[in-house]
Formats: sequence, C-alpha cells, structure tokens
Amino acid sequence: MSVLYTSDPVRGETWAATFAEHAPDVPFHVGLEGVDLAQVEYLVAWRVDPALLARLPRLKVLFSVGAGVDQLGLAALPPQLPIVRMIESGIITGMAEYLALAVLMLHRQVPEYLAQQARREWRPHSVVPAARRRVGIMGLGVLGEAALRQLAPFGFALRGWSRSPHALEGVQGFHGAAQLPAFLAGCDILACLLPLTDDTRGLLDARLFAALPRGACVVNAARGGLLREHDLLAALDSGQLSAAVLDVTDPEPLPVASALWNHPKVILTPHVAAETRPGTAALAVIENIRRHGRGEPLHGLIDRGQGY
Ligand code: NAP
Ligand code: GLV
Repeated sequence: MSVLYTSDPVRGETWAATFAEHAPDVPFHVGLEGVDLAQVEYLVAWRVDPALLARLPRLKVLFSVGAGVDQLGLAALPPQLPIVRMIESGIITGMAEYLALAVLMLHRQVPEYLAQQARREWRPHSVVPAARRRVGIMGLGVLGEAALRQLAPFGFALRGWSRSPHALEGVQGFHGAAQLPAFLAGCDILACLLPLTDDTRGLLDARLFAALPRGACVVNAARGGLLREHDLLAALDSGQLSAAVLDVTDPEPLPVASALWNHPKVILTPHVAAETRPGTAALAVIENIRRHGRGEPLHGLIDRGQGY
C-alpha cells in the first residue's frame, strides 16, 4: 500500500516529512518517478489526468489538496471512486481572514477611496454603522461558517444561504432556490463561498445582481466559474453594484485583456484567499487513511451526485 502525491513538489516535501513523522508505516511518494503504481491505494492531487487513474489498479480514495473538487474534473472520474475534499485549519483560517478583509474593505469604501487617491481627491464619505450593513454569505459549509464566525464580532447584520436549512446563531438563514430572492434583497455586501457545480455555475449573473439592493457590493472567493464577468462589469458600470472583490476568475490567470484589471470598482487577488497548509493537510489525510483502514466514514467525502 502507498500514497501518491502529484501536487506542488515543494509543498510535497512538507507532506512527505509529516507522513514520515506521523505515519511512518505509510509509504508516501511525491511525484511519479520510481513509484510502483500497482501499489498506490491513495492519490492526493489538485488536478487528475484520467490516464493516470487507469494506471492505478488498486486506487481506493482520491484526496483533493484543496477544499474544492471541481478542478479534479469529476465527470471524467470513475463514478464509484470515493473523492474527499480538504478540510484543514490553514484553509479555514485563511478564508476567514480573507472574507473579513474583503468585507471590511467594502464596508469602509476602500475601492472608492483608492479611486479617489488615484485622482488626488480628498473627499470623506459618511461611515455606515456595521449594525446597519447587511452582509450575506452564499454557502454555509466549512468556509462559509468560519467566515461568519470571523465577521460576527464586528456587529454586521449577518445572513446566509445554502441548499439545506442551517441554524447558525446570530445569522438569518435562507435556503434553496425559493428563498434566494429574499436572501439577496437584504445583502448590502454579498460574498460567495459556494462550490462550483452544475447547479451553481454562472449563478452570479445579471439576474442575481439585479436582485440585490442598488449599490450592493460582491465578493467572489469561491471559483471564477460561478460569476459571469460580463454581467458583473455591466452591473458595476450601471451603478447597480458599487464594487467587487474577486479572488477567483474564469479562466485563471485572468487574461491581460480583461476589463477587470483596470476597473476602478474592482479589487483583484490571484486565487490566494485560502491556501492549503501542507503540514495540517497531511495530518488530515493521515487521519482519513486511518479511518478508511478501520472502515469508518471519511471526513469530507463528497456526494458525487451533488458534485461537492
Ligand atoms: P462545503 O463545506 O462543501 O460547503 C458548501 C456550501 O455550499 C454548503 O453550505 C452547501 O449547502 C452550499 N451549496 C452547495 N450547492 C448549493 C446550491 N446549489 N444552492 C445553495 N447552496 C449550495 O465547501 P467549503 O469547504 O465551505 O468550500 C466552499 C468553496 O470554496 C470550495 O468548493 C472552493 O471552490 C472554494 N475555495 C476557494 C478558495 C480560494 O482560495 N479562493 C480556497 C478554498 C476553497 P448545504 O450546506 O445545504 O449542503
Ligand atoms: C482552493 O481554491 C481550494 O479549493 O482549496
């Protein structure tokens, strides 16, 4: 039995060191060189070449190095192969920090002040109290919940939307397509932490932006494919939206010709909101391998039917 890791080789060194320390009985390989593929039972990857899977006859579980699994190309993977998303503290704290940063920047009108600074314009705007700022998170999973916990002490009026009902203290909950309009109508700042699936692709479009209060702001820290760039630009230019903070785009890297780069109402970061921390990620995979060996349910096993 062995584990094959095919993601970033530099971070792979920390993965290998963590396996050596905490699971010395589990052979761990970074990259394909010299690996007996017939012995590989667990694969850890960001993207997967289906041709590689065909060479792994004993593969039992595919672990994503990220919280998201869309980049694995689920449709091309064997339907019975268990796929596990990454749940580890580095991603969770990273995303909670990023959401706090993005929401506070929008709450305190930083995009507008940056545009004024570029024009050498000294013009204060009145501050809206946090309690009067309605912040909504789409996606109440591991990361959505962590973001809400991080935002709560600022005193924002918090709301959240998910597929199934969630009862979170201090958060007004909405779920399902039927409650989406009511959720959106009360979001001055909307942040997306949904997985990219057949149901969510392109959800952040002109129709959704029109359902937000005029002048609302948007954060996308999930996947670029959730948002229609052209619709976002139109909503920003019409004033329906005031500003956007985007950590993800479609495609990535963002093409140099994209109008997002120079848009005065857009703040861009290059998919850095929450990076997998190799040490804690390796511990999470070790724990799941142990669980698998004992026949226990895996943490973060995705539902192939739902795609997340
Ligand atoms: P998760 O725990 O699986 O949570 C997903 C949430 O989305 C759940 O609350 C789920 O609802 C909701 N959801 C899924 N489909 C929906 C639909 N059709 N309608 C309404 N709600 C829906 O995922 P996570 O760990 O929080 O991660 C979320 C995403 O963040 C990842 O998939 C990844 O794409 C992205 N991400 C980005 C970065 C970055 O650096 N930018 C880093 C890490 C992750 P239920 O609770 O009802 O199931
Ligand atoms: C990063 O985007 C992740 O899915 O962890």
